Amino acid sequence: MTITELGLPSLKPLTPGMPTDGPLVDTFGRAATDLRVSLTDRCNLRCTYCMPAEGLDWLPQEQLLRPEELTRLLRIAVTRLGITSVRFTGGEPLVAKHLEDVVAATATLRPRPEITLTTNGIGLDKRAAKLKRAGLDRINVSLDTVDAAHFAHITRRDRLADVLAGLRAAKDAGLSPVKVNAVLDPETGLNDAVELLQFCLEHGYQLRIIEQMPLDAGHQWQRGRAISADDVLATLQQHFTLTPDPAPRGSAPAELWQVDGRGTVGIIASVSHNFCAACDRTRLTADGQIRNCLFATEETDLRRLLRSGADDAALEQAWRTAMWAKAAGHGINDPDFVQPVRPMSAIGG
Ligand code: 5AD
Ligand code: SF4
Repeated sequence: MTITELGLPSLKPLTPGMPTDGPLVDTFGRAATDLRVSLTDRCNLRCTYCMPAEGLDWLPQEQLLRPEELTRLLRIAVTRLGITSVRFTGGEPLVAKHLEDVVAATATLRPRPEITLTTNGIGLDKRAAKLKRAGLDRINVSLDTVDAAHFAHITRRDRLADVLAGLRAAKDAGLSPVKVNAVLDPETGLNDAVELLQFCLEHGYQLRIIEQMPLDAGHQWQRGRAISADDVLATLQQHFTLTPDPAPRGSAPAELWQVDGRGTVGIIASVSHNFCAACDRTRLTADGQIRNCLFATEETDLRRLLRSGADDAALEQAWRTAMWAKAAGHGINDPDFVQPVRPMSAIGG
């Protein structure tokens, strides 16, 4: 029986104009070179803007990609689709026991991609050096406040000290530059931002403040309630001298500012300004689905293809077809915007 008879995509593109080799492009001429891989949807925190207090129904084990399935897809991404940068995310990727092994396998691919991790930092104190040895290049640690009470309120767990220990270990292990990602609380956030920046400048971490996006499991996000990038900038300017960073921004979503010659701060206006035109991302969920955008409402099931015996060429073409269908932008500001069913923890940041 051929793949086509199984109801799977044929090797010939069904999509007119779609290239069958070369970069992973969409109809708007963007090429995806940055792959985000979610290793698990589980997490040991319960950030209010991401998960409900009781957690979520986790993906069943048999639906998760096995390590060898994942490394096969990573090889296809790097050797056939032109992926040059791989970021592991979650949920919380440190909850995934196979993280070090997957990093090590990724580091053997040629051309070797840049390998990065987005983590909440819990348990990182014990694993940062191991991850560095496995081939991890850089790290982003999510931290929204350095106030222990605010931290416990936002994440519903009293774990600030663990995150701070993780940050220190990352720096000591040479995972530099260590970046700190912050999503601000609508009530305490502007004050938190000032303290966070002070803290990051003191320790040599690069702070990036991200506007809260409609990706919470409870679909509670409300337009106008979240703190905007403009509010953050205005508040920081009351306490620091910010000058635009001269480095070209490229596809990076953060607007970078120099702070009193002491370091930089990035402000990511994910909702209020649209930078989708420069997007270079493609996403693989822990259960083997390709998402062409954080806000995509459709996914492409590579796990089913994989497990039905598809060869590398068929997987490559399915991935290309998924990306070819990428929309121009996230549409958050359109009147008919629909929030994706999956929350951030099941997509990967
Ligand atoms: N909006 C913006 N960022 C979010 N994150 C999680 N949920 C949201 C949201 N609704 C961030 C986390 C972490 C990264 C994985 O995504 O703070 O830094
Ligand atoms: Fe966990 Fe990250 Fe979601 Fe917070 S934002 S609950 S750390 S997955």
